[in-house]
Amino acid sequence: MTFQPTPFFTPILPDNAPFSSEQRAWLNGFLAAMLSPGGGAPISLSPEQAAAYLAPGGDAAPQAEADDGAPWHDPSLPMEERMKLAEGKPLRRRMMAAMAQQDCGQCGTNCEDYSAAIAAGREERLNLCQPGGKETLRMLKKLAAELDSAAAPVVEAKPASTAAPGHSREHPVPAIFRGRRRLNCGISAKETWHVEFELPEGVTYKAGDSFGVVPENDSDLVGAIMLRLGLAADTRDGERLVRDVLIHDKALGAAPDALFMLLAESVSDPDAKTRLARMAEGDDVDGDLDTVDVLAALEKFPAVMPDADAFLSALDSLQPRLYSISSSPKAQAGRLSLTVDAVRYDVGARTRLGCASTFLGGRLEEGASVPVYIQAAHGFRLPEEGSVPIVMVGPGTGIAPFRAFLQERLASSASGGAWLFFGHQHRDSDFFYEDELSGLQSAGALSRLSLAWSRDNNARTYVQDKMREEGAELFAWLEKGAHFYVCGDAKRMAADVEHALLAVVEEHGKRDAAAAKAYVAALKAGGRYQADVY
Ligand SMILES: Cc1cc2nc3c(=O)[nH]c(=O)nc-3n(C[C@H](O)[C@H](O)[C@H](O)COP(=O)(O)OP(=O)(O)OC[C@H]3O[C@@H](n4cnc5c(N)ncnc54)[C@H](O)[C@@H]3O)c2cc1C
Ligand SMILES: NC(=O)c1ccc[n+]([C@@H]2O[C@H](COP(=O)([O-])OP(=O)(O)OC[C@H]3O[C@@H](n4cnc5c(N)ncnc54)[C@H](OP(=O)(O)O)[C@@H]3O)[C@@H](O)[C@H]2O)c1
Repeated sequence: MTFQPTPFFTPILPDNAPFSSEQRAWLNGFLAAMLSPGGGAPISLSPEQAAAYLAPGGDAAPQAEADDGAPWHDPSLPMEERMKLAEGKPLRRRMMAAMAQQDCGQCGTNCEDYSAAIAAGREERLNLCQPGGKETLRMLKKLAAELDSAAAPVVEAKPASTAAPGHSREHPVPAIFRGRRRLNCGISAKETWHVEFELPEGVTYKAGDSFGVVPENDSDLVGAIMLRLGLAADTRDGERLVRDVLIHDKALGAAPDALFMLLAESVSDPDAKTRLARMAEGDDVDGDLDTVDVLAALEKFPAVMPDADAFLSALDSLQPRLYSISSSPKAQAGRLSLTVDAVRYDVGARTRLGCASTFLGGRLEEGASVPVYIQAAHGFRLPEEGSVPIVMVGPGTGIAPFRAFLQERLASSASGGAWLFFGHQHRDSDFFYEDELSGLQSAGALSRLSLAWSRDNNARTYVQDKMREEGAELFAWLEKGAHFYVCGDAKRMAADVEHALLAVVEEHGKRDAAAAKAYVAALKAGGRYQADVY
């Protein structure tokens, strides 16, 4: 729509609405025309209403957002700092700052679109940002109160997912588990599995996509919870067994605030009541809040015995988990593989199990059917032309999508070079896919392999150390037009890799810090720097 602002209108936007003076003048005119067609006095909007009115689809929103630069969109920043950076911004931007900033796809989209959907009333679920966990959920609940208190100006019906079955978290389809093999040999501190699935007909994927798995909880953990609650194995919740509800539908990891609230309501001891109420607010009263899962919360307050119904209602729903697909459909049609690190760690006398990773790396039996979906990559793709070189940095399970990329480049006889930086703790035990990588090297699909073993020597060597060591060559590859990819740990590794790249550009590109930053920013803006981090 083209709109010519007229000088004859009453300003509608409040002075503190987050727009420049030009934007404000234009928008005031636009809103006056839209809201007062008959020339009556226009209604005033709160900053949030104005922002939400202009939310997705509004002509001005992308401009306003492009101007704010989303400085909080950095997974290494703590929540407090992110929220500070977003202070005074429209609700959807503050909601975005509350996300974990990984654009990981776990919520079904990215941080920006998920938060905009909540702010516009198109998404009611506040608990989809898995990496953000309880911290994000708490902040979103707080921010969502602003939505409730203002008359929400744009409340659209939730659109039905248009993705084909098996292509969104809203519509998983059954796939057959075809087995696993351990990737670590000998003695390793890690337990990493190569996992294979057979896909149902019609479910397709591209190298770079992720795989959503709807896991099941460990039945021993469910048994221990039921024992603690004094529930017999055949206790029902309506039509279903409580046991089945706990295995298939409920998150049994970090105890949710609602469970602490339920326990606080049920306990009679005043000291326990106060502690529980504070824990429900995220206050770490006993210094153990990080490790209190659902069973630990029940065990911590043994005098409380909530009934099954109230207990189930206080739990969050079990969320699917994403895994980077480690195969190319060109290598084996109808099948795919994952590279999964099984999360197991001890807290006190109990070994805690990562729900999905130990399901895939242990409990799942060959031939079993599992609900799954493909989560399309958010730009994490090979260059269209096989002649364009690629540089891949993927320590640990970060190698997963690069195995897929290399299979793809082999199948399409890509002529551009491919350079992989891989690393892990020990060369002898943690060199995943060693034989395959050597085969890919012989076949010419992998032209350069740089390895970093962090625990083979006294000084830890990480992938970013190798990048610095081989910086002159790395810079030459970038100058040749190489696309740069990083996959793996979001919190520290991905940030360290970016710092190393900046240092390489500075030293070998003979640039100062600001110019190196601009060089890397241009790579990102041109789609030549892609991250798949978690
Ligand atoms: C896009 C994307 C791609 C991914 N690709 C891969 C992949 O290729 N391979 C892969 O293995 N994973 C991958 N992940 C991570 C994966 O989705 C899961 O998060 C991971 O497997 C853990 O899930 P879980 O259900 O086993 O553990 P959960 O039950 O979710 O438990 C994990 C939680 O346990 C706690 N925890 C874990 N370890 C410890 C410890 N040592 N001490 C104390 N607390 C601890 C942390 O709070 C952690 O958040 C990816 C994630 C995303 C978003
Ligand atoms: N929350 C965390 O702190 C954290 C950290 C790493 C991984 N993870 C999670 O653990 C799971 C599996 O991890 P994984 O099997 O892929 O292996 P990983 O634990 O990521 O380790 C892979 C390799 O990366 C090294 N590494 C550690 N810190 C690094 C850094 N800052 N920069 C570069 N390399 C670094 C490790 O060295 P060392 O082990 O010798 O240090 C190891 O050699 C994933 O779910 C991941 O998100 C969590």
